[in-house]
Amino acid sequence: METRLGIRGFDIRKGHLERPAQEALLDDLRAVIRAAPLFSPQTPYGKPMSVRMTSAGKYGWYSDRSGYRYAALHPSGVDWPPIPPSVLAIWDAVTGLDRKPDCCLVNFYGEGARMGLHQDRDEADFGFPVVSVSLGDDGLFRIGNATRGGKTESVWLQSGDVVVMGGPARLTYHGVDRIRFGSSSLLPKGGRINLTLRVVD
Ligand code: SIN
Ligand code: MN
Repeated sequence: METRLGIRGFDIRKGHLERPAQEALLDDLRAVIRAAPLFSPQTPYGKPMSVRMTSAGKYGWYSDRSGYRYAALHPSGVDWPPIPPSVLAIWDAVTGLDRKPDCCLVNFYGEGARMGLHQDRDEADFGFPVVSVSLGDDGLFRIGNATRGGKTESVWLQSGDVVVMGGPARLTYHGVDRIRFGSSSLLPKGGRINLTLRVVD
């Protein structure tokens, strides 16, 4: 059963996906990762990110010494695979928009991985929301403000939770402090997967 929580304009849909839907989604994501393997992007400051990534869709999110951007190809030179219909169905259900996302960023958090507070601001039109889907281990999601600094609030995201970051909260700072490695049985070897769906152009 889904329960909804509003925190600072983020629409947090706890339990949006039941376990069978999570398993089906995971199968589709394994196919994405086979076609476009996970890699560790470098930050513009030259440090490798602790989260490993890949993408599906017209664009993939990429970062190196030249900065954050969307790229038309995986670093190996292959096209990003199409966004699976199971993922698009989640976008449709929570946004009700006709416009489909151009990018599904797949983030994999192994033991000790985290993501610092940031804004999602590499897209052309902030009128479209970003939709996040969590699978696997619990992740401590921190929500800040429209500018860096100030008080923050945190919520544990669990497997099957979906967050819609849109409207006035579209540019709110957010990040993942830590995961509870091994807390979920969805991924046999542990870890957390987070998908973020974005309209890029
Ligand atoms: C992100 O902001 O790109 C990821 C958020 C999350 O892992 O929950
Ligand atoms: Mn983000």
